[in-house]
Amino acid sequence: MNEIIRINHLSKIYNKKTNALKVLDDISMNVYKGEFVAVTGQSGSGKSTLMNIIGCLDRAESGQYLLDGKDVCKMNDSEMTRIRSSKIGFVFQSFNLLPSLTAIENVELPLLYKRINKTERERIAQEALECVGLSERIKHLPNEMSGGQQQRTAIARAIAVSPELLLADEPTGSLDKASGEEVLSIIRKMNNSGVTVVMITHDINIAALADRQIVISDGRIIN
Ligand SMILES: Nc1ncnc2c1ncn2[C@@H]1O[C@H](COP(=O)(O)OP(=O)(O)O)[C@@H](O)[C@H]1O
Ligand SMILES: [Mg+2]
Repeated sequence: MNEIIRINHLSKIYNKKTNALKVLDDISMNVYKGEFVAVTGQSGSGKSTLMNIIGCLDRAESGQYLLDGKDVCKMNDSEMTRIRSSKIGFVFQSFNLLPSLTAIENVELPLLYKRINKTERERIAQEALECVGLSERIKHLPNEMSGGQQQRTAIARAIAVSPELLLADEPTGSLDKASGEEVLSIIRKMNNSGVTVVMITHDINIAALADRQIVISDGRIIN
């Protein structure tokens, strides 16, 4: 099997100059293409920091990170942005939708950044919203939707860019049980269609739904 993520001896330090805090300590891990992996551990253990590095949103101090065989640590910021927008979809606990845009406009936004024309954007966004069961809500604003519907809109936004890798940071953390289950089944469906999923969760019951778990404690992988 092919590795999409290969991390070797990665460390991340915050406040290097003043009050150095080693948040990730000698992390080595891999994720194979097509896998559904949960990264789990207590609050403050470094999960989101690791996800930001995997998502090319942040950099490590030392170590190596290969994304689809490409050395991210050697990239400049614009190369990181390019690989991020071509390969990775994100889902966050707090949805991160723009409040003044409708569901379909939110889903279209990353396509706008990719300079895809309006007709094509609308077609792709509509299809992505259908995938998450929201064809009836495309003109709604985020505050006119439930939490579960907002998170499904955020997943549609990720689906619209056809990512190879989905990074989900506590995707059900703000949802009730039923909406959470709906969101997890959509993420599972994406994985079944070939998208590699790395899902961060502090909830061991949710982590158990993944094919494999990586446990971190105090910035180190313990399992
Ligand atoms: N930007 C930052 N600057 C300084 N410390 C941070 C920053 N982000 C997170 N931390 C610290 O790093 C540790 C790990 O945080 P985080 O990765 O968010 O953990 P988790 O997602 O597992 O809850 C925590 O102690 C947190 O306070
Ligand atoms: Mg976190």
